[in-house]
Amino acid sequence: MATNAEKKKLYIKTWGCQMNVYDSHRMADILRPLGYEVAEEPDNADMVILNTCHIREKATDKVFSDLGRLRPIKDKSAKDGKKVLFAVAGCVAQAEGDFILERAPYVDMVFGPQTYHALPEMIIKATGERVVNTDFPVDSKFDKLPSEHDSQGVAAYLSIQEGCDKFCTFCVVPYTRGAEYSRTAQEIIEEAKAMVDNGTKEITLLGQNVNAFHGDGPDGSTWGLGKLIEAIHEIDGLERIRYSTSHPRDMDDELIEAHALPKVMPFLHLPVQSGSDKILEAMNRKHTSDHYREIIAKLRKARKDIVFSSDFIVAFPGETEADFEDTMQLVRDIDFASCYSFKYSARPGTPAANMQGLIHDKIATERLARLQALLNDQQKAFNENCIGMTLPVLLDRKGKRDGQLQGRSPFNQSVYVQANERLKDQIVDVKITHGFDKSLSGEIVTGETVLAAE
Ligand code: 5AD
Ligand code: SF4
Repeated sequence: MATNAEKKKLYIKTWGCQMNVYDSHRMADILRPLGYEVAEEPDNADMVILNTCHIREKATDKVFSDLGRLRPIKDKSAKDGKKVLFAVAGCVAQAEGDFILERAPYVDMVFGPQTYHALPEMIIKATGERVVNTDFPVDSKFDKLPSEHDSQGVAAYLSIQEGCDKFCTFCVVPYTRGAEYSRTAQEIIEEAKAMVDNGTKEITLLGQNVNAFHGDGPDGSTWGLGKLIEAIHEIDGLERIRYSTSHPRDMDDELIEAHALPKVMPFLHLPVQSGSDKILEAMNRKHTSDHYREIIAKLRKARKDIVFSSDFIVAFPGETEADFEDTMQLVRDIDFASCYSFKYSARPGTPAANMQGLIHDKIATERLARLQALLNDQQKAFNENCIGMTLPVLLDRKGKRDGQLQGRSPFNQSVYVQANERLKDQIVDVKITHGFDKSLSGEIVTGETVLAAE
């Protein structure tokens, strides 16, 4: 272990999905034994990592603008004879590694999501020469990661699969994250148990295409996500299970049935992207809008109180007003609890980038506004409908105001309560008093109220 004298400051900025957040935590875990401590601010850092996301617009521009902003830290330290390491990680690094090194010669390291287990070696090399590592190694990065969970809390992520073989025509993930790869069920179960021993109460199973999971089971058969959830559900002390992000095609019956298990939270993020079958086909989603409706109906049958969120892309090439109206109709039919929606933006190298029928930005903007108005109305109505309900909330962080704690309802809403700090990391019953656009607030009604009132 490093001694105090060797302590170094590590600044990591993370963009994008939960997988990137997870990766950043693991990079911090890997670098901790080398003496690196995570700092909230980049000033005086010894190493700066930009963990990037390539999924939507202007990702590369944002990286260069941040690099430019952070560069003075490096220059200033160089004058004092100290080398600050600059690294670009994640999907932009994977896709544009050489370009980054060319345009930002002061960057020492560029590495893709599959290679960060090699960070210690990369650091040693980078003190002498510049490093690019964007391979897709045959053996898994999971095998080489330390298994501590120092940076994981009461609500923690557990990565179970990576990559994607779906090749939706708009998406860079199959190119930046590589082919679908699942860990073994045994490894995951052991890791989940270790996390629970360390105080984790809620586990979110994570993967780019998490329900494509097909890991080797301890019985020699291949397990799907439903079976894995059943096994994890057995772990004493674990109270909540979630998973993200799923593809409709991989919602098999076993997984749908797993939603009846009490620890599985009644909330599912299930991206649909569009309600038009013509657009879904052009997107290579391999499902229709009715197929999506059927899956939702089955899930509602398995778990009465389940609610849904989704992702939408508007103005995909060729989207007519009628196609867009099909999306609006799907939204009206399903009634979502919360959603993300985006204007289509071409990602170089993806099939959709070469498609005809680009939609004018003015129309795209207007459609997005209409969709978001509907989605916001649904979210607000859902939140207001929770007023008067008593919901168990896992208070995993401080709230925005003094004396406030914040957590998630079973339906994944952020909930704010006035509460004694000792209630942090507990699941408490909260009577909801207010439903806002994006969150709820309420009062604690469990026995712990006594503590909160002290
Ligand atoms: N343009 C717009 N949105 C995109 N997404 C992925 N690629 C693109 C793109 N090229 C959205 C999808 C996906 C979410 C993570 O990002 O809706 O589900
Ligand atoms: Fe991208 Fe489609 Fe794979 Fe999701 S399922 S990561 S949108 S290719």
